[in-house]
Amino acid sequence: MDKNEFRLGRVRPAPENFLTDEDIQAVQAGRRDFLRKALLGASAAMLAPAAARAASDGDPAILNLPPWSTSLGMPVASHPYGLPSKYERGLVRRESPGLTRVGGSSVAFTPLQGLFGIITPSGLHFERHHQGWHDVDPSAHRLMINGLVKTNSVFTMDDIMRLPSVSRVHFIECGANTGMEWGNVAVPTVQYSHGMLSCSEFTGVPLKAILDMCGADYRKGRFILAEGADGSSMTRTIPMELVESGEVLVAYGMNGEMLRPENGYPLRLVVPGVQGVSWVKWLRRIEVGDKPWATKDEAVHYMDLLPDGQHRQYTSVQECKSVITTPSGGQILLDKGFYNISGMAWSGRGKVSRVDVSTDGGINWRPARLETPVLSKAVTRFNIDWVWDGKPAILQSRAADETGFVQPGYGQLRAARGTKSIYHNNAIQSWKVVESGEVSNVQVL
Ligand code: MTE
Repeated sequence: MDKNEFRLGRVRPAPENFLTDEDIQAVQAGRRDFLRKALLGASAAMLAPAAARAASDGDPAILNLPPWSTSLGMPVASHPYGLPSKYERGLVRRESPGLTRVGGSSVAFTPLQGLFGIITPSGLHFERHHQGWHDVDPSAHRLMINGLVKTNSVFTMDDIMRLPSVSRVHFIECGANTGMEWGNVAVPTVQYSHGMLSCSEFTGVPLKAILDMCGADYRKGRFILAEGADGSSMTRTIPMELVESGEVLVAYGMNGEMLRPENGYPLRLVVPGVQGVSWVKWLRRIEVGDKPWATKDEAVHYMDLLPDGQHRQYTSVQECKSVITTPSGGQILLDKGFYNISGMAWSGRGKVSRVDVSTDGGINWRPARLETPVLSKAVTRFNIDWVWDGKPAILQSRAADETGFVQPGYGQLRAARGTKSIYHNNAIQSWKVVESGEVSNVQVL
């Protein structure tokens, strides 16, 4: 682990990296005067009422004018494309130290512990490639539609971008998110346990509109096959009902600009509520067919091994799930007193209807505040007040969705689906807080 990562994980949400090496040593030495110094640079959300100080304390950061108040600032367009502050340099996507990169096949996780609200900044959107990414030339990119259609058609990007478009906020979660925990491996931070999750505003054309233009046979053609242009030959079967609902998009936009290359530029499929693997990137072909294709990414990978030795195949919906992102594994609570517990909840079946939070390992639960907007198949931010008494605690969140589905505990999940799967783990996450304030990942059955 590099130094920044350590720093990032040690002290609550962004901007953690206001801390200096001396600050971290002070925490390790248990010096509480550290708290004051750390809070000087922290955001308003960090300033619990108990931590506010009287002006008479003579804070030098108030009494002395800093250089930025007495000199010229940088000119406009110093960065034609804006970048985060240098003080935020620790907040980046990271590859898990435990996972090996094979060729271009790897994953870089979103730092959920440092995010606010529901939108993932595009530069922090998680990345998962089976065969690396390319910066595809949009003028050379094509989308072909074939199979059970009247007219086999080829679309250029210009053809697609002149069609009526929509913009919608949705989460994308890899089916393997939280996969290590099936086998009881407690990865250290929420970035690695839940960071194959992102939420963005996507812009594109409903696939249904494109299939209509090609005269799709919706009576016989009950499935589509989506194929990517990269070397992984990523191909996924998607039931036609999802396309007919109008939710599946052929998307070129993400968070107000074109998709990033690593997220499928210039064209990807958006399949709201469905596991990430079906969101085919660098989308080049859609075939309409009358049965599932059982491609390699459906018949060998992305299947759930059940306790009786059978497999669940074509399990695509990401069930209701939530996680507390602050405080979370690797962070340290600076002192007793007030904290805002914050987290994310989402469901592939619609809107999140409630989130309950426990600070005593699931004995008592309190309803959290759901922050607006609460959108269907999107991340919902929740917050709840907590006064830490300095004693050991176990923090958990439990989400429910509008269908009535309630997020299961590990005991319930394992009873139904065993311990051998790596996909679709939506169990309740537990963070243990010890007296020193250190937070770590534990499992509660
Ligand atoms: N599409 C193509 N063409 N190639 C890929 O390797 N990976 C899939 C999916 N689409 C993949 C792909 C997987 S497994 C996931 S979880 C998502 O893309 C990840 O999307 P992201 O990298 O934009 O987060």
